[in-house]
Amino acid sequence: MQKSVTICVPAKVNLSLDVLGPRPDGYHELVSVMQAIRLYDTLVLERIPDHPAVKGHGPVIELAPGPLGTCSQEALSVVPLDETNHISKAVRAMENKTGTPFPVRVKVFKDIPVAAGLAGGSADAAAAICGLNELWGLGLSRQEMADLGSEVGSDVPFFFFGGTALATGRGEHIRQLRYPGDWHILVVKPPLSVSTPFIYKAYDHYPQCSSDCTQGVIAALEAGDFVSACRSLGNDLQPVTSSHFPIVARVLARLKEAGAPGVCLSGSGPSVYALVDSPEQGQDLRSAVEDLVEVAVVTKFCSLGVETLCV
Ligand code: C5P
Repeated sequence: MQKSVTICVPAKVNLSLDVLGPRPDGYHELVSVMQAIRLYDTLVLERIPDHPAVKGHGPVIELAPGPLGTCSQEALSVVPLDETNHISKAVRAMENKTGTPFPVRVKVFKDIPVAAGLAGGSADAAAAICGLNELWGLGLSRQEMADLGSEVGSDVPFFFFGGTALATGRGEHIRQLRYPGDWHILVVKPPLSVSTPFIYKAYDHYPQCSSDCTQGVIAALEAGDFVSACRSLGNDLQPVTSSHFPIVARVLARLKEAGAPGVCLSGSGPSVYALVDSPEQGQDLRSAVEDLVEVAVVTKFCSLGVETLCV
């Protein structure tokens, strides 16, 4: 019987995010192009030998900085390790579905910044579902795991497909799009955390006019047209987050002034990214904003989603 499994999961950015409007269930209907990027969390799931003391207590979660060092020990100390953690919710959803208890220890080596608009918590939930499926040999399909993941969070299903995808509904309906190639990207996170519900609520009181940029982004991706993709990027939450957190507006402006081909907010922020022609351009732009941000990573698009690592 397999005792442990190692899962690797990327972060995501939103190349477009059009908010269509609020829904009766408290969510917002949206259309968004999501893109996986090569900035990963690694989760090691280990079965806890059957012992009455661990029954009904949920997973044992341990967090540590990942190899890139983008998450400090201090940044990780704010993450709750109780039943509100996305990993605990994922394990509980799996237990409810299968009727089986999953006594498990989950060690997370985090490189995806927390509360950053990069869906790190959702990525970890997807990795936990994938890990339990593997460890207990449940044989769930990617679509079945995605359906289960949607109970944990709107962004979770994306990670079962990864690469480039169109998300609709509250973000949980996924249609894979053509992967445009290993485009370079600079991702930066200003030193603050943003609450997604806060930003969506603020959006409802903000003068609304959708940037309606998803079709332009899809067309650019289908054509593999980097310049046109850069021009098409857009996020309806960007003016909301920028007005509440002026440092986000400053980072966006600084990147544009420094010549970034395409700049946009990811999710509800505060992370901002720039699509760049080359790693060198990424490094130059990184220098231009270094004094304003806590994390800055030059990386590439990723064609995959959550994956089991053979170690
Ligand atoms: O689905 P998730 O738990 O990630 O969503 C967190 C919160 O973000 C929701 O409770 C809601 O307030 C807001 N949200 C929203 N519309 C979406 C996704 C999230 O209003 N499509």
